[in-house]
Amino acid sequence: MIQKPKGTVDILPGQVETWQYIEQTARDILHRYRFFEIRTPLFESYDLFSRGVGETTDVVTKEMYDFHDKGDRHIALKPEGTAPIVRAYVENKLFGPEHVKPYKVYYMGSMFRYERPQSGRQRQFNQLGVEVFGGESAETDVETIALAIDILNALKVSDFKLVINSLGTPETRKEYRDKLVAYLEPYFDELSEDSKSRLYQNPLRVLDSKDARDIEIVADAPSILDSLSEESQKRFEDVQQLLTALDIPFEIDSNMVRGLDYYQETIFEIMTNEETYGTETTICGGGNYNGLVAELSDGKQQVPGFGFAIGMERLILLMESQGISVPAQHPLDVYVVNFGEETTAAATQVMQKVRHAGYSCDRDFFNRKPRKQFKEADKLAADLVITIGQDEIDHDEIQVKNMATGEQNAFPLQQFLTDFGSIYQQMTN
Ligand code: HAM
Repeated sequence: MIQKPKGTVDILPGQVETWQYIEQTARDILHRYRFFEIRTPLFESYDLFSRGVGETTDVVTKEMYDFHDKGDRHIALKPEGTAPIVRAYVENKLFGPEHVKPYKVYYMGSMFRYERPQSGRQRQFNQLGVEVFGGESAETDVETIALAIDILNALKVSDFKLVINSLGTPETRKEYRDKLVAYLEPYFDELSEDSKSRLYQNPLRVLDSKDARDIEIVADAPSILDSLSEESQKRFEDVQQLLTALDIPFEIDSNMVRGLDYYQETIFEIMTNEETYGTETTICGGGNYNGLVAELSDGKQQVPGFGFAIGMERLILLMESQGISVPAQHPLDVYVVNFGEETTAAATQVMQKVRHAGYSCDRDFFNRKPRKQFKEADKLAADLVITIGQDEIDHDEIQVKNMATGEQNAFPLQQFLTDFGSIYQQMTN
């Protein structure tokens, strides 16, 4: 028997409603913030990610699903959404004068990373992300962070923390990198194997190692915040002041780095609290990528960027662990109970008219006893049950029952066919 590939899941009816609810709640908020949806291909050129995300990142070196297609193009399934959207921004000239500034987009969809699957970590997973192009100041950073928090709040998620840091500019980061390497080198033999291999390739990643001895070693490492230029320092202070002005609590963690290379200046993560959950899980991560548009437009466009992505699977796990229930998504307005062979045509007609009038409707297709059909209507939590038997057809009348109150009334068949809306109103008010 063929099974789904490792690290993927089927999202079945019954589960998908949670996704739809989150997506709808998020869309409402995103549109309030004037973000609009963008959809880009599931696969892109491999080079987009090696250039955009960073040649030495785990995402590119270890986790990418890449292949050569039949035309020998080197292709990758997208491991993240930012580089593709920057590509689309440049390719479609969305920086042009006819477009609003800042240019704000959102996306929801699948990403692919060849990782070791575990709870909240899949090989195909879903992100809800946003990108802002052309926001020059700290206000863009904070407005976008506030948006992420608004989405979580609207979903009634609680007990998370916002952690921020600043990576400064590529120049100051390079200086910091040298300082960090000089600090770490004497400890080389004590570092974990991962950190040893990262030390010269991507030393900032040593800072967020989960290895216990690495953590002890980096505790006294020089702080990146001491290496910031005056301008970056001011921007980071502005971010903090604005967060405070919006009553958004935050922590600063100068050892926090991100797994993708395009970040500069403000970065942030929203995490679950370690005290409550035993481990910290990052639900949402993002920050500034002020050099990425230039990188992917061969230096032609210098447009700053800021964005984030929420991991949908992790968000749903968190909602489940907090007992957050999702309102019923597809209530059944009407269930048609019919009995007698000759009633089938009338039942089908009525069911179609009810649907055309804008109500959801279903019926029994197995000629079960009326009692069984009522049971089914109960199970499906139908608001109203319409009963059609030979008697009803002979008298040109159909019975309607409100399942919650038990109230029952008869209406002329004609009224069902022409004006079901008034019957529904009368029976449910
Ligand atoms: P990221 O931190 O790599 O950032 O991913 C964002 C979120 O996606 C993570 O915090 C996590 O919740 C979720 N995630 C990542 N990998 C997996 C996985 N294998 N399984 C389940 N969930 C996962 C980015 O991708 C950036 N593009 C975010 C961004 C947008 N930065 C600026 N704009």
